[in-house]
Amino acid sequence: MKSLFSSKAIQGVAFFFMLWSCTPSWAAPDAVAGKAKAQVCAACHGDSGVSSVPGFPHLAAQPPLSIFYQLLQFRDQRRKGGGMEAMAATLSEQDMRDIAAYYAGLPAPAPVAGGSVEKIAHGQNIAQQQYCSSCHGAQLQGQKHVPRLAGQASDYFVTQLRNLRSGARADMDGTMASAARSLTDEEIEAMAVYARSLP
Ligand code: HEC
Ligand code: HEC
Repeated sequence: MKSLFSSKAIQGVAFFFMLWSCTPSWAAPDAVAGKAKAQVCAACHGDSGVSSVPGFPHLAAQPPLSIFYQLLQFRDQRRKGGGMEAMAATLSEQDMRDIAAYYAGLPAPAPVAGGSVEKIAHGQNIAQQQYCSSCHGAQLQGQKHVPRLAGQASDYFVTQLRNLRSGARADMDGTMASAARSLTDEEIEAMAVYARSLP
């Protein structure tokens, strides 16, 4: 006997209920709203997420989850620096998601080729030996909650990596602290030059 419901229809109904039961309690991230909410951030992070202030991070093309988690950490004072705790204190989680969606959709910072070819190659070698790309992506473009390093300002990169190494910056699960533990300053600087050279 032919079944009452085709398997397609059953799949369709199952899919609907799956979506419905997964519907989050927050609204979908809205990059347009995020742009408006990020106006106060532009003074330090640039009009298009590319900072012109030395030592301040670029946010353009960062994975949205990474921006979101960092803002949460600043809000909860688990990460401190640059006055970001105060900036994040007034943001709701919806604001954070909207802002993250906005920055994630902006074009990545232009690669900086400054520094000798040897130093870039040296930095690349160390990054390969240390398996940085296993978390940060093949081109260090970031993924999920792991930040983008490609094109990042090198002085920001160096400061953060030193702080993660010393524990002055607590990372969310300790994986980055252990990845940084054995690095020398010279290795960190070479990798910063390599990372900023990536598109
Ligand atoms: C007065 C300058 C200033 C303003 C305004 C500012 N920031 Fe920041 N932001 C910084 C500095 C400096 C850092 C690096 C902090 C550190 O040293 O750890 C930072 C770090 C961050 C990071 C972490 C980036 C990473 O790669 O880990 C995020 C995300 C961020 N800011 C988002 C925002 C958002 C969103 C706003 C607006 C609501 C904002 N910032 C406003 C200066 C600023
Ligand atoms: C096991 C996964 C993992 C590995 C391996 C790893 N990282 Fe990370 N890295 C992370 C995570 C997760 C964060 C965010 C940490 C946090 O704030 O909680 C991070 C943060 C960073 C930051 C700060 C970026 C920013 O925007 O604030 C730098 C710089 C960095 N990593 C460089 C490296 C380098 C260089 C290597 C290789 C030596 C490396 N990482 C290896 C997971 C990893």
